[in-house]
Amino acid sequence: MSNNNTTTTDTKGRCLVLLPLPFQGHLSPMLQLANILHSKGFSITILHTSFNSPNPNNYPHFNYVPIPDTSEANLCVSSDDVGKVIRFMHDVNINLVDPIRGCLERLMSEDKGVACLITDAQWSCTQSVAEGLKLPRIVHRTSNISSFRSFAAYPASHDKGCVQSISDEETKSKALVPGLESLKVEALPKFHAYDAEVVSKVIERMVQATKRAHAYFATSSSSLLEQDKTSLSWLNKYPPKSVLYVSFGSIVKVDESQFLEIAWGLANSKQPFLWVVRPRSIEGSEWLEPLPNGFLDRIVEGRGYIVKWAPQQDVLAHPAIGGFWTHNGWNSTLESICEGVPMICSPSFGDQIPNARHVSNVWKIGVELEHRFKRREIESAIKKVMVDDEGLQLRNKIIDLKQIASFCLKKGGSSYSSLEDLVNYILSF
Ligand code: UDX
Repeated sequence: MSNNNTTTTDTKGRCLVLLPLPFQGHLSPMLQLANILHSKGFSITILHTSFNSPNPNNYPHFNYVPIPDTSEANLCVSSDDVGKVIRFMHDVNINLVDPIRGCLERLMSEDKGVACLITDAQWSCTQSVAEGLKLPRIVHRTSNISSFRSFAAYPASHDKGCVQSISDEETKSKALVPGLESLKVEALPKFHAYDAEVVSKVIERMVQATKRAHAYFATSSSSLLEQDKTSLSWLNKYPPKSVLYVSFGSIVKVDESQFLEIAWGLANSKQPFLWVVRPRSIEGSEWLEPLPNGFLDRIVEGRGYIVKWAPQQDVLAHPAIGGFWTHNGWNSTLESICEGVPMICSPSFGDQIPNARHVSNVWKIGVELEHRFKRREIESAIKKVMVDDEGLQLRNKIIDLKQIASFCLKKGGSSYSSLEDLVNYILSF
């Protein structure tokens, strides 16, 4: 790999094809990466499914190529049901292999050709396609490297039965992953109650295809939903670090009793809060129907504001925000660190579990709820993170981490250099 500084003359006109997974937490970071690579002079083609296709108006300087829909796979997805999302990833990796190969062959035969294919890690089928076409493939992962380690351990643990067979929670909390003794079984990514065979296959294929691709991990607006900007004007009336921001990302769902525990935990904490409740994210409800009558006006006395979808990065950067109650999707976790906001962690599935463990136990910049949604525990976690002396250390620690993160993004910093290296690496093909 060359370490020379790149110029746009080297990159000009060289075409990169990027294939995102069509879910919010995967689409946004890939389009951001595409934008950075475009600023380095590459021409960008986004290959995309018809489901959740990106809006070309947000990035008019890219070319867009839809994958022809020859199967039903693209149509039968609901983005707010994890089981269906996993089934979708399983199915598209079988049904869309030929259409993807066809698109790539066509793009490669055009004048500009294709310098390299960059796909989300979950597009595991594209590794064989790329190998067949002798096209370099770079894998873009939207979760962190330590969670990759636990994903890599997942299929073996599943085959040996160590994930399913331990029913006793206490034994499970002490059991170690075979071959990776520093990792406890309880820290493995979890996908409760979904088809275990499909989960294991999807993970194993992703891990194998990632290991076969070029070992690179890289890190505007690409919101699939409309962001409610009134969130920001509402925050303007609050003093610094006084408001808790609550959001569980684009996929997590809760049932009605969990939703009510969240609502009462927020109310009882007496802290102001901005709460994102996605439509249909409460099982059996369209939106806020289960909320007690007069919740915002009478019960929380105007200290709360609920929106369907917020401009999250702007919200986290707002001086009024003093805490983030999150599901610990990797984007949300990074965004919180970059803005120096301490977290309350309620992971739900997958990499969110190891992410939350790192935030609370390793980096000590947040607290993890033991029972996820119990009003008393919620109330005391909010007080600890936002106001109590007990939380002072973690509030100081996240400020240190914010500074470190901002150094990483500056010239000479590790993220900055990684992107430079990535550009040089692509140019070396
Ligand atoms: C999914 C998985 O759940 C997660 O575990 C994995 O790490 C990435 O893919 P998601 O659940 O959507 O992601 O969470 P997250 O990674 O946090 O991404 C959510 C994105 O939506 C963030 O970039 C956040 O800024 C944005 N968002 C969220 C909004 O713009 N507005 C909102 O109201 C809520």
